Amino acid sequence: MTNDLDQMREHMLTAIAASPGLDALEACRVEALGKQGTITALLKTLGKMSPDERQVQGPAIQGLREAVATAIADRKATLERAALDARLASETLDMTLPAEALPAGTIHPVSQVMDELAEIFADLGFAVATGPEIETDWHNFSALNIPETHPARAMHDTFYLQQGIDAKAAGTADEKTTFSLLRTHTSPVQIRTMLSQKPPIRIIAPGRTYRSDSDATHTPMFHQVEGLVIDKGITLGHLKWTLETFVKAFFERDDIVLRMRPSYFPFTEPSVEIDVGYTLVKGKRVIGGAEPDGWLEILGSGMVHRKVIEACGLDPEEWQGFAFGCGIDRLAMLKYGMDDLRAFFDGDIRWLKHYGFSSLDVPTLSAGVGA
Ligand code: PHE
Repeated sequence: MTNDLDQMREHMLTAIAASPGLDALEACRVEALGKQGTITALLKTLGKMSPDERQVQGPAIQGLREAVATAIADRKATLERAALDARLASETLDMTLPAEALPAGTIHPVSQVMDELAEIFADLGFAVATGPEIETDWHNFSALNIPETHPARAMHDTFYLQQGIDAKAAGTADEKTTFSLLRTHTSPVQIRTMLSQKPPIRIIAPGRTYRSDSDATHTPMFHQVEGLVIDKGITLGHLKWTLETFVKAFFERDDIVLRMRPSYFPFTEPSVEIDVGYTLVKGKRVIGGAEPDGWLEILGSGMVHRKVIEACGLDPEEWQGFAFGCGIDRLAMLKYGMDDLRAFFDGDIRWLKHYGFSSLDVPTLSAGVGA
């Protein structure tokens, strides 16, 4: 009997050690230790043995069971480790592969264009400045040479806030510190920048702006980018060169013609509106072309009014500058071909998929800001 057990142990341990995979090992286990298994059957014989016999056979059979169970566990660990090693070897991760196939959300064209603007103007030495969307009367209007009685205030379709109206009624309003409206343009950032930084100043200020207006080309919330340069001896020539360089970089072509038209803004003098030439290609307006078929207005600009420079505590005899303000949504429409502004803010996933940009399309001047 003991001899039989030794043989059985030998046989089982060999089979276990030789089992090529987890399935084969499981078969060994079932054969030895399963309900119908050989060792299970042996254990069942113990009950029918005489006490003397059991005293000898009991430890022998239990010893066999333990040896086999341990061998199976060891072999299992070995096979699992080998399987893991094989997986690790086959499932290599190439960190240098582009991750473009990743399903992800898209960058909204407005965000993309803001990044493009920051990139273009950073190259020209402009920093990005910001200001609050809830503004005071003074920063949004008065300091920009738009006093309370000025008709330009009516032009702006301003959203006034109840807190400002209440403060005014209570006589506690202070035009410089009471936040009373949603900014109607990014021009208040000119004021905040001149008050907080010493010239020379070169900034752009992209952001949200608000006017009570809504149709295919106007939404109550829209985006503008402001530009401001304050330095000594700044002229309209600097403005023209800067805008030409910007528009060429933005639309990514050199054959861009700009037209400067005299205009009026209370905070610039002289004021110029800038039109960009387009050519008709298969009936579509395409920005650029040495001989334009027509003109599209893209921004307002001018030399910063001396009253604005004075309002910020600077001497207009010493410091001059230029400013411009431009609708970002409109820039995006002209560059990427959307025709309804309202779709920008509908949050329609199909529109976002179509017009959105990959999060990896970071605009750079070297790779092209066109993404
Ligand atoms: N703030 C003006 C607007 O919203 C644009 C502008 C900015 C014009 C700076 C001149 C200088 O229409």
